[in-house]
Amino acid sequence: MDRRELLKILGTASLSAYLLQWAKASDERNVKEFLNASSFGTFTWGIATAATQIEGAWNIDGKGASIWDTFGHKKGNINGNSNANVACDFYHNYISDIALLKKMGFGAFRFSLSWPRIIPKGTGDINLKGIDFYNRVIDQCIENNIEPWICLYHWDLPQALEDKGGWLNRDVIGWFTDYVSFCAKTFGDRVKHWIVLNEPLSFTLFGYGTGLHAPGHIGLNKFFNAAHHAALTQAEGGRVLRNLLPTAKIGTAFSCSPIDPHHPQSERDIHAVRRLDAIMNRMFSEPLLGLGYPYKEAPILHRIDQFMQQNDEVNLKFDFDFWGLQNYFRVVVDGNPLIPILKASKVAAKKLGNEITDMNWEVYPDGLYRSIKQFSKYPVKEIIITEGGAAFKDNLQNGEIVDEQRTRYFQEYLKGILKAKKEGANVTGYFAWTLLDNFEWAEGYSKRFGLVYVDFETQKRIVKQSGQWFEMFLKE
Ligand code: BGC
Repeated sequence: MDRRELLKILGTASLSAYLLQWAKASDERNVKEFLNASSFGTFTWGIATAATQIEGAWNIDGKGASIWDTFGHKKGNINGNSNANVACDFYHNYISDIALLKKMGFGAFRFSLSWPRIIPKGTGDINLKGIDFYNRVIDQCIENNIEPWICLYHWDLPQALEDKGGWLNRDVIGWFTDYVSFCAKTFGDRVKHWIVLNEPLSFTLFGYGTGLHAPGHIGLNKFFNAAHHAALTQAEGGRVLRNLLPTAKIGTAFSCSPIDPHHPQSERDIHAVRRLDAIMNRMFSEPLLGLGYPYKEAPILHRIDQFMQQNDEVNLKFDFDFWGLQNYFRVVVDGNPLIPILKASKVAAKKLGNEITDMNWEVYPDGLYRSIKQFSKYPVKEIIITEGGAAFKDNLQNGEIVDEQRTRYFQEYLKGILKAKKEGANVTGYFAWTLLDNFEWAEGYSKRFGLVYVDFETQKRIVKQSGQWFEMFLKE
């Protein structure tokens, strides 16, 4: 159609509106149809794992017990009464597993160090065989041109330290920094990226508040006690790394969730949103910036005051090189005066009308986009999505896993990152959760998050369609 015909149809006045609309639609099409890795520019593409969830070898070669070993060995704590004794046996399969992530085209591997594998009792004697294992993993990455990213704490506190009070004991700050210092000196010659803590809210709330996770304590005060020590520890850990490894990139990883009112007009719901946002998104991040805990929106946080000591407010601060964001779901709340403390109840994901994952979490790609937007309002140097992924029921058919839902999930969430980047957010990397189907904490082996399927009887691996999609996407 030539321009004259077009003008006849549209009329001059509507032409510019039409063109504008066309340009907008084509921009959206670009994001929708032409999603490729190069649109992200210089970007770290990685895959994330955690020691307890994949390593197995729980008592081999001198490893000490962690709180997850003890917790998993008690009946009734884990779905199916399973435990992390063997998991994916990454301890013995790391060479072929690293080859898999290389084949899929990832350039970075985030794994965590098991503190009790390195220092079996948490403090004191070190375990040379444990150190040797991590040296081999790091070297294997480097030989394969994969950047090793170390997370220092993904929830597996040495049981010996839990016996002394664990995260409830303020000494944990010193125990942890000694361990960090040892790791920095041992691995820092080759490891240039460090994450201090994985999701402090999750391990303090579930481990010390609700009892759902190891070590299984229940109590609000315990939660706040552990949380304050974790908040101090994250900053202190950052300082130790910065002193010992001044050129390394140092970050820490937060769970984050956008929170919406069930009824946008309801004052009660809106207040509930503010309270929850303060606890779920701001409690561990804002103290780092010197803003303290968000008491105003969540006065319950004053319960932390009893654990505060002189200079804590200053010591809670640390200027990380990057913040890791991990978003798995959005939260929609009703203000509910009948619920003690939070005065809010969560609307079940299945009532929200969107697809849900096998964890009963809503698929809501805008959630990651919104979390990035929320966190990029802070003066943070870089944001890295240090985890993102979903559990779905996988069907093994003719030796293949066609996990369309998971593939679509990644595509949609990645579009959200691209959108946030185009709007100016400084997101510089993405780590898919996760390499292998694994030990999903209290859910045991019942939920599969991997890009690679694991037959837990034989330890055989099969790259799922989602993993193949990543391979195509990253190699394009
Ligand atoms: C944790 C992972 C976990 C994932 C899915 C994240 O919060 O860091 O260890 O497997 O959620 O539940």
